[in-house]
Amino acid sequence: MNAMTANEDLLKFEIPEVVFGRGALGQIGDCAGRLGGERVLLVTDPGVAAAGWVDEAIGHLRDAGLDWAVFDNVVTNPRDFQVEQGIQLYRRKRCDVIVAVGGGSPIDTAKGIAILASNHGAIHEYEGCNLVTQPIPPLVCAPTTAGTGADVSQFSIIADTRRKVKMTLLSRAIMPDVSLIDPRLLTTLSLEMIAATGMDALTHAVEAYVSSLAWPMTDPHALHAIELVGRHLREAARAKSPAALDGMFIACLEAGIAFSNAILGAIHALAHPLGALYDIHHGVANAVLLPAVVRKNMGYALSRFADIAHALSPETRGRGVRAAAEAVPEMLDALIADIGLPSRLSELGVDPADIPALAEMAQVDPCMLTNPYCYSKAEIESMYRDAL
Ligand SMILES: [Fe+2]
Repeated sequence: MNAMTANEDLLKFEIPEVVFGRGALGQIGDCAGRLGGERVLLVTDPGVAAAGWVDEAIGHLRDAGLDWAVFDNVVTNPRDFQVEQGIQLYRRKRCDVIVAVGGGSPIDTAKGIAILASNHGAIHEYEGCNLVTQPIPPLVCAPTTAGTGADVSQFSIIADTRRKVKMTLLSRAIMPDVSLIDPRLLTTLSLEMIAATGMDALTHAVEAYVSSLAWPMTDPHALHAIELVGRHLREAARAKSPAALDGMFIACLEAGIAFSNAILGAIHALAHPLGALYDIHHGVANAVLLPAVVRKNMGYALSRFADIAHALSPETRGRGVRAAAEAVPEMLDALIADIGLPSRLSELGVDPADIPALAEMAQVDPCMLTNPYCYSKAEIESMYRDAL
């Protein structure tokens, strides 16, 4: 796979306009208007609405003189039929701009709706790389989790409910126009969700740094994101202190910038089928798989994992490359335990009898193609068993 261009010698770096800081959500109406919108489809979920952020966003849209319709039928691991419901509302209300206020699920759903707004057909037709050919309507995102990076990425992950697989839609055309990153929005998130989504951000950064498409524009963001997660995730998941939440939002942003341009790897390839078959939260799936896959990946990118060790903990800097790299899985195990996430797939109800089916899906996931090594089905099965 080359997500960037048909020419494998070319590299690219694409990010949206980013506004960061308390009160950034207040820009949402101005941004939607500045991008030419008059009638907004606001995509969100019931939890974000209950926290009060949808009412605030609507107030800003009203102040900017815009009309709006709200689509909030979105769940974790968003489904194909929800994209279909969203596009019907978009068309019925004659919307011309989309804003997403939420975590990865509303943002991925908003991207799916945006694809169908200008490309027509069914969402399944866009599974794969760069199949979205027509420009999408303006898309403004305000993330409410410090994890997915969907607000700065060219990915959308949508569940195909008939085939029971997660579809990866990867297209330069679906990059949002603006990301409004407002740390106030993290304060209403549960500690468990801060932990789970924070591990998603860490997984993005680790996979981007060892990706076969990593390059000097993505590396500094990936490493800095890892450093910030090492410094802030424990405190964010324990007490939601403002400095730790700010640090995690920047970590999420930089990890998103890195993975959107360098793509991902085997951890996400193995995590996606767990979401499709068991509806396991994406961040939790990544956290459980991360140490097991890192142990397997280690030999294919040893010096890169030594860099990751140094970013996670300065104490490893005096060690040789191998010793530093080999410390990474233990550091990850300790972090996962400290923030109270499960560490075994069996705790999440994964049935060992499903491992062959999970491995079959993981092997063909597009994220596997940029892993430092492309694993056989038998090797993937062994990684699932290592995490069981
Ligand atoms: Fe992810």
